[in-house]
Amino acid sequence: MNANPNAGELAGRRIVLGLSGGAACFKAAELCRGMVKAGALVQVVMTEAACQFITPVAMQALSGQPVYTSQWDARPDNNMAHINLTRAADAVLVAPASADFIAQLAQGRAGELLALLCLARPIERVPLLLAPSMNREMWAHPATQRNVAQVQRDGAQMLGVAWGEQACGETGDGRMLEADELLQELIAALAPKALAGQQVLITAGPTFEAIDPVRGITNRSSGKMGFAIARAAREAGAQVTLVAGPVALPTPRGVRRVDVVSARDMHLAAMEHAQDANIFIATAAVADWRPATQAEQKIKKDGSGVVPQMDFVENPDILAEVAHSARAQAGDLFCVGFAAESENLLANAQAKRARKGVPLLVGNIGPATFGQDDNALLLVDDEGAIELPRASKRVLAQQLVAEIARRVSGWSA
Ligand code: CTP
Repeated sequence: MNANPNAGELAGRRIVLGLSGGAACFKAAELCRGMVKAGALVQVVMTEAACQFITPVAMQALSGQPVYTSQWDARPDNNMAHINLTRAADAVLVAPASADFIAQLAQGRAGELLALLCLARPIERVPLLLAPSMNREMWAHPATQRNVAQVQRDGAQMLGVAWGEQACGETGDGRMLEADELLQELIAALAPKALAGQQVLITAGPTFEAIDPVRGITNRSSGKMGFAIARAAREAGAQVTLVAGPVALPTPRGVRRVDVVSARDMHLAAMEHAQDANIFIATAAVADWRPATQAEQKIKKDGSGVVPQMDFVENPDILAEVAHSARAQAGDLFCVGFAAESENLLANAQAKRARKGVPLLVGNIGPATFGQDDNALLLVDDEGAIELPRASKRVLAQQLVAEIARRVSGWSA
């Protein structure tokens, strides 16, 4: 297990991390640390109000850079921190963004360095991400909602708020997202948008075929590859629906998740969501067979030593059915299959591609990948086969998404 799952994700990126006043400033400290550990060069800028909640010294220690708090800071040769900081930045992330700070942005005010640099940033090139943080009444107030809508119209990306207990003791919407959630959003914002405008449907994980109320048949698929693809597709700008069998994985941010248990549940959910999809990626390890009958009560040992006999019936082949649907046949739905094999990867993958009727089939060796954090893939299409050598599932998912984008929209990195 990699100790830092975000290592290298922001390598070489220059990020301005802005703090305005709010109790959530303590989360900005953790966020700053996470960004640095992900490889970013972090320049912290704090408003006067933010300095009431956390000291610039703490943020300097965590970012490894002197902190800016004033537009009158005489350190820059040209005395124009607002220009220098934004021309060098890949993104500006304000966390926490207070109600007052969002109001300042909505009006285009520039009374403090942080608001000033948001206004002075090259708007086409440097994304502005805002992580609001405030009391629930302040968040719900029409003035705040008006300002939020205005700053979005002006090009800022609102990262949303969480519901929960607030520093003031009340409970509701307005909490700042957690540091790791903000980090994922920042990584997503900086990813190339190779699948912008695409609707992607993914199946992932194992299925569970019940024998009786306490037993069933399943397999060792962890769902990690499918979840990594869902995350990478969303980062690439797609709307993603993830139909997941029973797995213990967190939902990637911004992904719509539909939990299912059996192959038949997965089949129903996939057929429903395939109606709106442009791309279908079947990573699930769907059970090929299920017990023909499911006992209503637990099957008991009766002491006779006679073992239960079981008949099986075949489950629907989700991928083959979607790939043979009218939309897929018309070229409106690009289908990608996976093949979990234990030997003869190329030959088996080619045969499976033909049998399932999909343009792209991704082969991997099942026993070498189930539950692991890394894998190696073999991509088989009508031009031949290319290998994606062993790497983390995160990296392979990004590469696969780029390969799919190239085939679907002619996009190239
Ligand atoms: N698949 C599916 N529905 C099924 C079985 C498989 O959608 N009932 C999909 C998988 O998600 C994967 C591909 O089909 O994308 C191949 O799955 P795999 O288990 O490797 O192949 P099978 O068709 O089950 O063939 P076999 O077990 O004989 O290798």
